[in-house]
Amino acid sequence: MVEVPEYLLERSRQRRAELTGTELADSGAAAPAPDTAPVAASTPPAAAPAPIVEAAPPPPPEPDPPYVEAARARKRMPYWAASVMVFLPLWAIFYVGMLEPPDSDELVLADNGAAVYSTCASCHGADGSGTATGRQLSDGELLLTFGPAPGFDGLAHHLSWVYLGTADTKRLGLDFYGNPDRPGGQREVDSFASGMSGFSNLSLEDLVSVVYYERIVHGGLDAETAAHEEEMLLALVADAPAFETGSPDEISALLTESAEGHGIDLAAGE
Ligand code: HEC
Repeated sequence: MVEVPEYLLERSRQRRAELTGTELADSGAAAPAPDTAPVAASTPPAAAPAPIVEAAPPPPPEPDPPYVEAARARKRMPYWAASVMVFLPLWAIFYVGMLEPPDSDELVLADNGAAVYSTCASCHGADGSGTATGRQLSDGELLLTFGPAPGFDGLAHHLSWVYLGTADTKRLGLDFYGNPDRPGGQREVDSFASGMSGFSNLSLEDLVSVVYYERIVHGGLDAETAAHEEEMLLALVADAPAFETGSPDEISALLTESAEGHGIDLAAGE
């Protein structure tokens, strides 16, 4: 029989002492002298408490695997973490609350607009960077054409453009679209690829949503202006006016009317 090394026996004794709660001194006293046969080493002391049930001596414990050693050596949670943990459940409640879908009758322009924009992405690119068949909207291009500017209702012009598209804008007798003071000159209708179809088939909700989406995502409209325009658009949706021609002037007048009816401060957008 291979002799069990003394250090393993010693560890075994200590382990057992830890498990049973027996003082090391006791087990030491009860344990046989080191030169006794290994088997006797685990004989419980006569007055040992009940927990020791094994009749046969257990094999000496294996040395701890490395991951156990690592777990022991690992740093414990710092004391300040306790105070962080206290707020975790609170945070979880907020988080879940945020995930909840909005009421079904609540129109979220940006979300709805992202879905509608999938019909525009084939020409304008998912990120608005443009393709061979549709103009670039990103990198400031959209707001140069349809951004708010003194004396120019960019929001109304944008809505009108998407509603009418190339052919219907021309049909209204307009040869140009967008800001007349656009750097590099005002946009000429039908000046890119084979033009753009109008989207008068969209519901008013979808039309204002996709326009809002383009303005904030591709245009990078500042938060304050975006909030103001969102209010204007939601007021328009609430009033649900029918467009006669969908011209920029008509839509501009309708936007103003709805805003006034809903107590929106028009000066806030300037
Ligand atoms: C068939 C390709 C195509 C699709 C689909 C398309 N567009 Fe266009 N878009 C164009 C083209 C081409 C122009 C330039 C039209 C012109 O010069 O008459 C344009 C111009 C624009 C502009 C003006 C950009 C500028 O700065 O001049 C906006 C805004 C715009 N489109 C929004 C949309 C929206 C919103 C949709 C989806 C509801 C959409 N487009 C779908 C091709 C497309």
